[in-house]
Amino acid sequence: MPIRSSTEVIVFPDKNSLSRDAAFRFVGLSHREPNAPFRVVLAGGSTPALLYRLLGTPEFIRSVNWDRVHLYFGDERAVSPSNQESNFFMAYENLVSRVPIPASQVYRLPAEEIDLQSASRAYERQIRAHFEGFPSPAFDLVLLGMGSDGHCASLFPGKASLMEQDRWVIPAEPGLNPFVPRMTFSYPLLNLAKQVLFLVAGEDKAEALAHVLEGEYQPERYPAQGISPTQGTVTWLVDIAAASQLRF
Ligand code: 6PG
Repeated sequence: MPIRSSTEVIVFPDKNSLSRDAAFRFVGLSHREPNAPFRVVLAGGSTPALLYRLLGTPEFIRSVNWDRVHLYFGDERAVSPSNQESNFFMAYENLVSRVPIPASQVYRLPAEEIDLQSASRAYERQIRAHFEGFPSPAFDLVLLGMGSDGHCASLFPGKASLMEQDRWVIPAEPGLNPFVPRMTFSYPLLNLAKQVLFLVAGEDKAEALAHVLEGEYQPERYPAQGISPTQGTVTWLVDIAAASQLRF
């Protein structure tokens, strides 16, 4: 499958240089519409931690108007927000606790709730309210990682969450460690992005990345292929190790 026209792939020597590039892009995108909220969907997992930490350093922190930044979470594990396995915990430790963003502008996914259906619906109502009055709902930046199985957010191969075409936020079955239930943004919501940035590093991602970018279109097997914003661009920031099986 040829790489989509609005997709670009940039290869970096290592995760450090990849994360620095992502930090500069975050800053640049935050200034695109200086009088509007800058709405960002954060990725979970471990790869984005370095990017998040960089944004809180003197080199970057003063380049962002944090009063305009609104942070959402693309997925969350059914664990307490103080649990090391929580995506919120990772973002809080590396970013939220280090930058002057108003706490009211950080929208945690409450995946520890017993009733994930109603918690998902409540979060979706909140997002829809934030986009009221805007011509079309769209996140300025959606950050995503990719698993070695080609999943993104908590959209795992072969799971029902891949088929969701209406709801924006849904409960999701577990797909990898920690093997707990999850909440995730669905394709319809993730694809409401002006800019998607995938951050992918490591040899263990190489096979899946080659399938996602150059293989047959099979999003049920490689869910990251289903990220295809109608009005946006997808940029893959990958390191040499993850790119080692790409043919281009
Ligand atoms: C999660 C993440 C997940 C992550 C990938 C890559 O909750 O697990 O949202 O989609 O982005 O698994 O994770 P790493 O960056 O740790 O490789």
